[in-house]
Amino acid sequence: MAETIRPHGGTLINRVVEGAERDRLLEVARSLNQLNINAWTISDLDLIGVGAFSPLTGFMGKEDYESVVETMRLADGTVWSIPVTLAIEPDVAKSIKTGEQVALVGEQDGVVYGILDVQSIFEADQQNEAVKVFKTNDEAHPGVQKLLSRPSTYVGGPIQVLNRPKPEKFGEFYFDPAETRRLFVEKGWRTVVGFQTRNPVHRAHEYIQKSAMEIVDALFLNPLVGETKSDDISADVRMRSYLVLLENYYPKNRTFLGVFPAAMRYAGPREAIFHAMVRKNYGCTHFIVGRDHAGVGDYYGTYEAQEIFSNFTSEELGITPLFFEHSFFCTKCGNMASSKTCPHDKADHLHLSGTKVRALLRDGQCPPPQFTRPEVAEVLIDGMREKLEPSNL
Ligand code: ADX
Repeated sequence: MAETIRPHGGTLINRVVEGAERDRLLEVARSLNQLNINAWTISDLDLIGVGAFSPLTGFMGKEDYESVVETMRLADGTVWSIPVTLAIEPDVAKSIKTGEQVALVGEQDGVVYGILDVQSIFEADQQNEAVKVFKTNDEAHPGVQKLLSRPSTYVGGPIQVLNRPKPEKFGEFYFDPAETRRLFVEKGWRTVVGFQTRNPVHRAHEYIQKSAMEIVDALFLNPLVGETKSDDISADVRMRSYLVLLENYYPKNRTFLGVFPAAMRYAGPREAIFHAMVRKNYGCTHFIVGRDHAGVGDYYGTYEAQEIFSNFTSEELGITPLFFEHSFFCTKCGNMASSKTCPHDKADHLHLSGTKVRALLRDGQCPPPQFTRPEVAEVLIDGMREKLEPSNL
């Protein structure tokens, strides 16, 4: 039987409690102090619980947090680039103390999602966090905006998951890392390349995925479906676009679609490392990093998210990053290419800005097939129409 790649840190974490122990802890939770948690924190909690964020066993305490912010490593030296923290209002912080357990309760639905062993309550220097993690403290940056809108008191410690968030749609595409690992082995795939996306798959994405598929056994298309900024295309529409694309253009026996239910941080280079470590936990051996991975606006250089990998040894990373240049359709070559493979002028390259593509779709027009597969364009046009329907405005 094929072997799977070792999880980050060596062990796939499982903090999801089931059966009688879960019943007991739900009873215990009734008498604990409660912390209300929002959808973002619920997704972090769940991803820690199922081991997607291995080796994390909970929300970061002061030591790990500071180490991650300053050095991109946990306090024990393990590579980790993004703080995973639980922010609480200062008056709530006053009512809890280290050593106690608190119940983590959904602020919308009152569901007890888990229990946290409070090991650390600390003040975070969020300006410093912004500059180190996002390379800016500009509040126009969606990640910085989110960070600075949270209280600066953080509470850390190991968690246990007692209830899992239920997907509203596309439940059949939710797989925990233990499941994807098992499925990849069952399918006999020794090498699997992970692809992160928060967008519909356009021809450039398809090109780099398929270039990677030439050298590995399979593609794990792993779109992020957690919280994104409001002008990103909804996860629902994207999922429909992935399904028509896979149906029409990808070999079924070498592709696997499963969602990544995490929030988008927009932290560019640091998020690329985070995305790679997480995909390793899902069982990927390779991970695609293209141009401006997880970037937004002009905050990061085109290839910074690739360059950052050189801070770490391949042993430390475990997963092999596959770097791709900016890809485009070249009218002279008559195919997709990048500056590595195409000798022609920029003028020969098809370039469409995101704004232009959105305008075309809004007018019900398909972008050229060299940019987007017509089946995908149709789904996106329908998605635009639904959004513009008076009942959805
Ligand atoms: S991301 O925020 O999830 O990174 P997106 O869905 O656009 O955004 O990108 C998914 C992956 O495709 C990233 O690795 C990104 O670098 C890569 N990518 C997107 N467009 C191109 C392109 N034209 N050429 C090369 N790589 C690209």
